[in-house]
Amino acid sequence: MKIKNICCIGAGYVGGPTMTVIADKCPDLQIDVVDLNEKRIEDWNNNDFTKLPIYEPGLADIVKRRRGKNLHFSNLIKEKIENADLVFISVNTPTKKKGVGAGKASDLKWVEACARQVAEFSKGHTIVVEKSTLPVRTAEVIKSILFASYNLNEDKETEKTFDVLSNPEFLSEGTAIKDLENPDRVLIGGEKEEAIEALCSVYRCWVPEEKILKTNIWSSELAKLTANAFLAQRISSINSISALCEATGADIREVSRAIGSDTRIGSKFLVSGPGFGGSCFKKDILNLVYLSNHFGLPEVANFWESVVELNKWNQKRISELIVKKLYGSVSGKKISILGFAFKANTNDTRESAAINICKDLLEEGAILYIHDPKVESNQIAKDLNLEPLKESFTEHESLRNSEIGNWYFANSIRESLTGADAVILLTEWDEYTCIDWREASNLMRKPSWIFDSRSILNPEKIKASCLNFWRIGDGSIN
Ligand code: NAD
Ligand code: UDX
Repeated sequence: MKIKNICCIGAGYVGGPTMTVIADKCPDLQIDVVDLNEKRIEDWNNNDFTKLPIYEPGLADIVKRRRGKNLHFSNLIKEKIENADLVFISVNTPTKKKGVGAGKASDLKWVEACARQVAEFSKGHTIVVEKSTLPVRTAEVIKSILFASYNLNEDKETEKTFDVLSNPEFLSEGTAIKDLENPDRVLIGGEKEEAIEALCSVYRCWVPEEKILKTNIWSSELAKLTANAFLAQRISSINSISALCEATGADIREVSRAIGSDTRIGSKFLVSGPGFGGSCFKKDILNLVYLSNHFGLPEVANFWESVVELNKWNQKRISELIVKKLYGSVSGKKISILGFAFKANTNDTRESAAINICKDLLEEGAILYIHDPKVESNQIAKDLNLEPLKESFTEHESLRNSEIGNWYFANSIRESLTGADAVILLTEWDEYTCIDWREASNLMRKPSWIFDSRSILNPEKIKASCLNFWRIGDGSIN
């Protein structure tokens, strides 16, 4: 089972960067990334490397180096599957919106479609690898579709055979290239040693042997869901204590440092914030909740569901306290929103806490000036389900009397701050740490408020600039 040609179905946040790094580390392999979405593929093939469909630090340089050599992006799904020894399935697995399991179970229709495509187009022996995050026992579904296709084939010459492996991805957005180049571990679950070994040989090009973990296929599928659930649980835990800090005079940064120094607890994922976002945590926990209920374990399901509930509550808590501090009303007030992405160094807004917090403030009649260094205006409009104002507020003083919430896409931090009653920092972009608060204070309407939901601003400098200040989990100042 020597691997020469790899096809990855799905050119998204996982498929694109993962295959780019494999192409870079394994120059002898040919890697084809295919997708149904023509625009996405067009963007991956853009000669302006700042216009790739995904922003990840370091990604553009590697794509520049490998594209057209051993890394190719196309819509040629049939041809590339036919040619592949190994197919990664790296398609979206969102929460089901309708029918049985709606709101919790993963929608596997894209994964099923991939299995059918591989069953139809593949030739000879193909190793099919689950890269998407999937419910435990999905490999069973994939196998049954694949095996149904080769049972019909009696001609030995053109016989199709398959192995199915699970190889979940643990990269984080914003640090995807670093995570892929130096992973904590690579997890491979499977049944047949030969197939596992073939996939190991790809990773061995750059990952030390001791970091490649082999398990049975069900453990691998479940380990991915569990890793995300544990990480998200830490965030909900620290955010719950953050609220208690605000009520008692404690400081969440000090509490985090104190508990994180215990090597049994560890210091990572203890940064309190507006609540976890991103495409994975909520969906994967809800999937775990669905599976637990399905297997007759409602107590387990309730335990994990509370992690998502607390996250929702935390976002609501922040929008409510902002309204309260602004004298009980934000109607007609200009509010600067700094950051819309779900975390820094990505243009991804999926499940961003900014979406719910902005919606709450719009509902209260605020005029939001939203700034983000990487997120585009049309994405924000889609997320808020509201088109932006075409002209800036200064030409629309009458908006101050409007009861209806509106938003404007701020092209600069300065534009967002000018005349604002409050600044709400929602994403921890580096450039927000360099704001000159004296200058900002002169630009804003008095009395002005700064809300730091990420705890990245310097309280002394802000307070010295005659600005009111709130930051998450700080009981000493709130
Ligand atoms: P994504 O939505 O960015 O990309 C998925 C792509 O698959 C889309 O471009 C879509 O057009 C394409 N696609 C869907 N069905 C197809 C088909 N039948 N044929 C060809 N193309 C098809 O999703 P993503 O963020 O890359 O996530 C993919 C999987 O990886 C999910 O299961 C997710 O849970 C998991 N994951 C994501 C991350 C992350 O940080 N985003 C990290 C680890 C794991
Ligand atoms: C996550 C997992 O970390 C990754 O292993 C998995 O493959 C995909 O899902 P991602 O969602 O890209 O990655 O980013 P992550 O760094 O985990 O952050 C998720 C959310 O939690 C962000 O909104 C982030 O701001 C928030 N977060 C993270 C905190 O609020 N506090 C922390 O201490 C860490």
